Amino acid sequence: MTTPEPPRNISADLPVHVRENRAYWDAMADDWVASGERAWRSHEPSWGCWNVPEAELNLLPRDMTGMDAIELGCGTAYFSAWMARRGARVVGTDNSARQLETARRLAREHEIDLTLLHGNAEAVPFPDASFDFALSEYGAAIWCDPHAWIPEAHRLLRPGGDLVFLGNTPLAMICTPPSGGAAEPVLHRDYFDLHRLDWTGVEIDPGGIEFNLPISGWFRLFRETGFDVLDYRELRAPADATDRFAIPAAWARRWPSEQIWKLRKRSDGS
Ligand SMILES: C[S@@+](CC[C@H](N)C(=O)[O-])C[C@H]1O[C@@H](n2cnc3c(N)ncnc32)[C@H](O)[C@@H]1O
Repeated sequence: MTTPEPPRNISADLPVHVRENRAYWDAMADDWVASGERAWRSHEPSWGCWNVPEAELNLLPRDMTGMDAIELGCGTAYFSAWMARRGARVVGTDNSARQLETARRLAREHEIDLTLLHGNAEAVPFPDASFDFALSEYGAAIWCDPHAWIPEAHRLLRPGGDLVFLGNTPLAMICTPPSGGAAEPVLHRDYFDLHRLDWTGVEIDPGGIEFNLPISGWFRLFRETGFDVLDYRELRAPADATDRFAIPAAWARRWPSEQIWKLRKRSDGS
């Protein structure tokens, strides 16, 4: 397995949210081992906390033979494994050394060749235009500042390359109470200024700093960065869903809790 020693970030140089999220995810990594192992065992990709099958969404190329792919915030790297099984050469990068320990062990056990790097997905140590495909499922997609990681993903992609990412909808975030409790059918915060969501001081499950934008803010960022929007999906919880994390299934039957963007780097490189 190819696992080159990455150029190490000096923690003190990292932005505050990256340092906070590193400590948060290192502390939580043990809780994510079992779900990571389950996902690695499955050969059918599925998306988000409702496990919507890729076969329904069709967002990954079926055949990734010869493609260079990167997962930004790969966690236990099951999505990286799914892309590798489709034939891609895959780099997974993550801010948590503990999450990567699980990813490395599972890659060894499943005999899947991944390059796994410890670092911040807002500044990835690869040259411009190194990848054909970039992906994030709840990784950089929610834990990195979009004004930093979206331009970084654009830089990493070759012209014509795709970025697909899944995260919470802005609606789910404005319906989440300031206590950090589960989403409610109530608008708890303003929409237009949505950007940094700091959960470090909340009562329920404190820790972590997330990011999101109003839909128009995402569109504007993509346009100004040089991405065309190919698709936008709002995922609905299936009828038999059970409550997940901070999203009650009943809420997510009525409103979209997760969104997926599919973007293409403009081929003039702009
Ligand atoms: C929920 S996991 C996402 C991986 C996987 N898809 C999943 O859902 O389990 C979130 C991951 O994002 C990583 N992460 C947080 N901030 C990051 C950053 N600045 N750069 C890279 N990864 C980051 C965390 O370390 C964590 O492993």
